[in-house]
Amino acid sequence: MKLVHISDIHLTAPGERMGGLNPHRRFAQALDDVRAHHSDATRIIITGDLTHWGEPAAYATLVDALNDLPCPVRLLIGNHDDRAAFLSAFPDHPKDASGFINHAETVNGTRLIYLDTTEPRTHAGHFCSRRRDWLEAELLHCTHARLFMHHNAMALGLPAEDKIALVPEDRRPLAELLTKYRERIDYIHFGHVHAPVYGTWCGIPFAAVRSTGNQSLPNLKEQELLQGAPMAPSYAVILASDSDTIIHDIPFTWDGPVFSTGTAWEDWAKPVAAE
Ligand SMILES: [Fe+2]
Repeated sequence: MKLVHISDIHLTAPGERMGGLNPHRRFAQALDDVRAHHSDATRIIITGDLTHWGEPAAYATLVDALNDLPCPVRLLIGNHDDRAAFLSAFPDHPKDASGFINHAETVNGTRLIYLDTTEPRTHAGHFCSRRRDWLEAELLHCTHARLFMHHNAMALGLPAEDKIALVPEDRRPLAELLTKYRERIDYIHFGHVHAPVYGTWCGIPFAAVRSTGNQSLPNLKEQELLQGAPMAPSYAVILASDSDTIIHDIPFTWDGPVFSTGTAWEDWAKPVAAE
């Protein structure tokens, strides 16, 4: 099963930029790359910060952009999103009984769980008791699960960034739940940090994907300020087979030369001076 993981597209109202970039162009480039190289994907999953200011006009551009894709798209909201505006733009989008944009589906025997960790007017993530109950109900009956969320649940050793991770008081209930079911949770995938970060938490591997817009610089000392730059973006291609996972980081804006080299060479000795 191939899953395309895109995150933090930060779409604006048409004509407005974000951090000096045109987020619409970047997102369109990413989707064009998916169409060109990963039309066999099972799902495209966008883990939040769909828009930058949560504006209806920005969500309208997302509705248009998601036309003509090779597979179903699954959406999560992030701290820059507005739940009501999102639901106005996507009125048929699934949500749970409490109104959170929590949804899940079983694909190829794996429960893909899309967890809503947003709370209005805060950049930090939340995991209240209602969301805990919903997630446990999902985990209870599956054999394999893969958890997608916007926020990083764990502290990442980035003091400024960690201030807007899942709030510490909600981190423990999630950790306890994931630990309880960790044998059946293959991976945690998230966005929010605008950078590739890998590790394990509660015995479960996790991976964060870059933004399609601005990237963050991992600063392990800075206490207050997030630091970003318009570095090259990417999205991830996840190859999931039972509980095995391979993740490819896919750069999609490179337009320079590409060198092709075969793998059947036998020139073990350097034949000529290198250029
Ligand atoms: Fe973001």
